[in-house]
Amino acid sequence: MGNQIVLVDESKHLYKVSRESFISNEVFEKEYEKIFDTCWLYAAHESEFNKSGDFVARTIARRNILITKSNTGEINAFFNTCPHRGATVCRDKSGNAKTFQCFYHGWVFGCDGKLKNQPGSDSYSKEFVEEGYGNLIKVPKIATYAGFIFITFNEDAESLEDYLAGAKEYLDMIASQSPSGMAIVDGSQEYAIRANWKLLVENSVDGYHAVSTHATYLEYLKNTNGSLNSVALNGKSYNLGNGHAVLEYTAPWGRPIASWIPLWGEDGKQKISDIRQELVERLGEETAERIAEKNRNILIFPNLVINDIMALTLRTFYPTSPDYMVVNGWALAPKEESEWARKYRLSNFLEFLGPGGFATPDDVEALESCQNGFKNFKHVPYSDISKGMNRESPSYDDELQMRVFWSQWKERISKGE
Ligand code: FES
Ligand code: FE
Repeated sequence: MGNQIVLVDESKHLYKVSRESFISNEVFEKEYEKIFDTCWLYAAHESEFNKSGDFVARTIARRNILITKSNTGEINAFFNTCPHRGATVCRDKSGNAKTFQCFYHGWVFGCDGKLKNQPGSDSYSKEFVEEGYGNLIKVPKIATYAGFIFITFNEDAESLEDYLAGAKEYLDMIASQSPSGMAIVDGSQEYAIRANWKLLVENSVDGYHAVSTHATYLEYLKNTNGSLNSVALNGKSYNLGNGHAVLEYTAPWGRPIASWIPLWGEDGKQKISDIRQELVERLGEETAERIAEKNRNILIFPNLVINDIMALTLRTFYPTSPDYMVVNGWALAPKEESEWARKYRLSNFLEFLGPGGFATPDDVEALESCQNGFKNFKHVPYSDISKGMNRESPSYDDELQMRVFWSQWKERISKGE
């Protein structure tokens, strides 16, 4: 890297990040080594494991991971590769299984990862099974907070609670949206973007771009009678520690938890008022109002984004090269929710947030356009995220949250150098 990665001048309220860090292979490898290989990473949600044998298999930070619920109710994460000669043990994305059989030579594993059976087992020593040489290998650490399951490949990682710092309050707030608990809705969104993953970090907590990038969506809402309230976009951004940040703001669109818009009619008004009433009784007026009226875009370092907006989504994204990332998105919803609320929630999930909706394609275009612009990095070496540095308490559409991310990113990347 020819340039300093992050340039900060407090006296001039300037914060600049090097564009080379979006295109450099050297930085990309360091990001795996110093960030994805050491941080806590979101892996799954507790609601995906209702009974023993429930499993999900997904790619997390370039590893194939299998997460299962054992017969004793424990949730474990394993490397999804056969200890025999390497084949992928579980080739389905999710489901329920009593055992997992490797298709190559037929070894069979229990939901606790232990080798249960191997064709030709008389060719192996007694110790082979007894001492666990044939078991699936566990991911070093797994922990759950408020229903969110995280893993880390770092044996020495701090506790998940310490890592989450101020983000815990926001995860608690999401978990408490319904007395029935929260659950991932079946299915997921998966797509790729030809851009550096940090651009999506920035974009996911960028309150500045909505009016220009998403003009088509806002226009569409304006032209659909009753889709907007006369509430302005207004709010603040907060540093939650350890690279985590949040924007919390009011917005004119409807929220199935629990903010009504005229489009939902009188019947919808009653339904929203019932949801609201339950929140007030259970959590008190102040928290209920915050949950119902405020939108939140939460960033948990390095790459979990929770958008609690007109729907509630979780999103992770991993780079496969400096200029390419794979994104996964899930909808989270109250376990028990009326058909009415679920319908609006899911249509919002698709309409605004989905890869074929009104927002994501515009964001993808913006991110790919930035990545393209970075080709000029030798002549235009820095991007600017100074907005709001001159304020005590930055607004939701300032860039504090990006500076929070980049400061943590820089600290981790430069550790030991
Ligand atoms: Fe799995 Fe041989 S590689 S049984
Ligand atoms: Fe956007």
